[in-house]
Amino acid sequence: MAISTKKIIDTKGTFKENLLTPRFYTTNFKEMSELDISSNREEIEAIVEEFRIDYNRDHFIRDKEFLTSWDFFDEKTRDIFIEFLERSCTAEFSGFLLYKEISRNLKKENPLLAEGFSYMSRDEARHAGFLNKAMSDFNISLDLGFLTKTRKYTFFAPKFIFYATYLSEKIGYWRYITIYRHLEKNPNFRVYPLFRFFESWCQDENRHGDFFAAIMKSQKPLLNTYESKLWSKFFLLSVFVTMYLNDLQRKDFYSTLGLDTKQFDKHVIRKTNQSAKTLFPVILDTENPQFYELLDLCVVANENLIRIEKEEHSQFSKFFAKIPFYFLMISSLFKLFFLPAIETKYIWTLA
Ligand SMILES: [Fe+2]
Ligand SMILES: [Fe+2]
Repeated sequence: MAISTKKIIDTKGTFKENLLTPRFYTTNFKEMSELDISSNREEIEAIVEEFRIDYNRDHFIRDKEFLTSWDFFDEKTRDIFIEFLERSCTAEFSGFLLYKEISRNLKKENPLLAEGFSYMSRDEARHAGFLNKAMSDFNISLDLGFLTKTRKYTFFAPKFIFYATYLSEKIGYWRYITIYRHLEKNPNFRVYPLFRFFESWCQDENRHGDFFAAIMKSQKPLLNTYESKLWSKFFLLSVFVTMYLNDLQRKDFYSTLGLDTKQFDKHVIRKTNQSAKTLFPVILDTENPQFYELLDLCVVANENLIRIEKEEHSQFSKFFAKIPFYFLMISSLFKLFFLPAIETKYIWTLA
């Protein structure tokens, strides 16, 4: 179905905010500016030098292939693509805002970190801009200025920003490269040219992850204490559950690309967990048969919570109908957290 007028969306009506929606973050900039990174300064400098080279300067240029009209997509496929682009653009833009703010606030006290964050915000701005231009192929665009002003910001202390962003960069890398490799082997499913850009694009995310890893290595208590084991497990589990629940609500998107959502997610989870093995003191045992049994119970709980929310009953009766599913979700997450983890014992995590 062809739509002739371009629609600008502010995401207010399109996203129903919940725990699984891409979020905007802020942190304690003063605390971050006072970080002593001297114990791993060389590695951080080496990564900043890579950022400076700017390998992808000329990568995000739309070519002839984008000139095609995408009006031949049926309405369902079109909606699936718009949602994917909208969520991805918001996530990239959220990274841009956070990194830009950190860079601005660290300039005086911690110029090396400030420089690293400014290069990462440059990359995320490119990613978000490229996705927003892709949305214009479907006669839609995101009002990023409006989004900046009106979205709620979630506060995370610097150390939590490091765990969370390290993992979200690495999981982003594995998601993009897995889609790219799959479509390279199955070009008949490459229904839209955006995916052709994922190979170099995901290298940006990989470098961003390495930058956070280098910062964390300079802060040993983030990696070599008992508490750090709990946080590592907590953040690994949080990003895996969030992705799994989000993706299983969007199976149509993955099947349009010829991917089985569960297989795709399991691969990305295994790879991200393996990446974290080179940094975190513990990783999750994703091979434990209970791991996916419990994750699937979270999916059942989530699907029921969504179903009840859509029903036309009072908020009061909805709340009571939801209780058993909240209980199922929380108890499954609790059991997942307490499944035995795998110790990684990396030498540099010693004091
Ligand atoms: Fe990005
Ligand atoms: Fe990134």
